[in-house]
Amino acid sequence: MARVGVVGASGYTGGELLRVLATHPDVEVTYASSREYAGKPISSVHPNLRGYYTNLKFSNVSVDEMLKRCDLIFVNTPSKVSVDITPQLLESGVRVIDLSPDFRLKNPEDYLTWYGFEHPAPDLLQKAVYGLPELHREEIRKAQLVASPGCNSTAALLSLIPAVAGGFVELDRIVVDVKVGSSEAGIKPSLGTHHPERANVMRPYEADGHRHVAEVEQELKNLLGGREVKIALVPHAVGSVRGALATSHVWLTKNITEQEVWRMYAQRYAKEPFIRIVRGAPFRYPDPKYVIGSNYTDVGFAVEGRISRAALMAAIDNLMKGAAGQAVQAMNIMLGIDERNGLNTPPLRPA
Ligand SMILES: NC(=O)c1ccc[n+]([C@@H]2O[C@H](COP(=O)([O-])OP(=O)(O)OC[C@H]3O[C@@H](n4cnc5c(N)ncnc54)[C@H](OP(=O)(O)O)[C@@H]3O)[C@@H](O)[C@H]2O)c1
Repeated sequence: MARVGVVGASGYTGGELLRVLATHPDVEVTYASSREYAGKPISSVHPNLRGYYTNLKFSNVSVDEMLKRCDLIFVNTPSKVSVDITPQLLESGVRVIDLSPDFRLKNPEDYLTWYGFEHPAPDLLQKAVYGLPELHREEIRKAQLVASPGCNSTAALLSLIPAVAGGFVELDRIVVDVKVGSSEAGIKPSLGTHHPERANVMRPYEADGHRHVAEVEQELKNLLGGREVKIALVPHAVGSVRGALATSHVWLTKNITEQEVWRMYAQRYAKEPFIRIVRGAPFRYPDPKYVIGSNYTDVGFAVEGRISRAALMAAIDNLMKGAAGQAVQAMNIMLGIDERNGLNTPPLRPA
């Protein structure tokens, strides 16, 4: 049994990790941090976990405690917190999966551009492995630090990877439209995320350059061996609680049929345990509603030959494949166990 800790366990991604890990056959959660709820039972914040974790309480954030109790730590804090905690953990040999954006970008200057702070540990950016198994499975296996992707980025990348690798899309004008549910904004209400303001919205935000663009462009460039790719990504806050749908609009560089696109996606994702291709009844395109509660990504596409365009889609549960599920998938790979362990639950329906 691996002993794992969750930093930021009172938030939404931390809570989702606790939910998934509660029945995981190969790990035991031995540490869960919350500064606000230190000393309180896990179920006092996550009532869905009543009856689980009866011997574990929230602890204050203490690196010494983490090192004493854990072999691997998940960090689920807002940006610019993990940069302080993670280097200390790595120094002591513990493995870390960071769900925050603090180690996703390779170029330290990008942190100033996209996140507005100077990265205090730039050497670790090269050491970190971007935690998308569909791109970096072998590196994740050996990694000491995994930087788990953002939810919008996961959906965008999984919609685009086979098409970009397949060489049939224009690489300097890709437009990604993302719809995402309210849990992506975390557990603390703000003016924009408080229920009366957020319920039933269809609200675009950060339309002039969302932060997740940086990691999507980085990973697609890497996939192409250094060829630049330019992305516009506009997220829309929608009224659902969970779910993210990326619709990537691409322009074609050659005539291609839907059958050929299907073949490329089917080949690229053939061995991926958490990718399903949607192409028929009852609904023709992916919808996050049918992946909620699971680690699946449903992908689909449409080709509009008349104007040489294609729409490439990916639907995820932002808290699962977009966060906790993907992090557990990476952990399984790091531990050398079956990638699907703890993640076998089918999606909910209706959700
Ligand atoms: N929500 C999503 O769909 C999603 C998807 C992918 C990635 N992410 C990323 O995952 C991270 C967590 O997101 P979330 O939605 O779970 O946020 P959240 O619900 O707001 O939870 C944040 C957690 O971090 C703790 N925390 C806050 N400031 C801290 C500090 N200075 N030191 C230690 N702990 C601190 C909080 O607990 P205390 O204040 O009680 O300590 C809380 O448990 C973020 O970086 C986010 O961008 C989120």
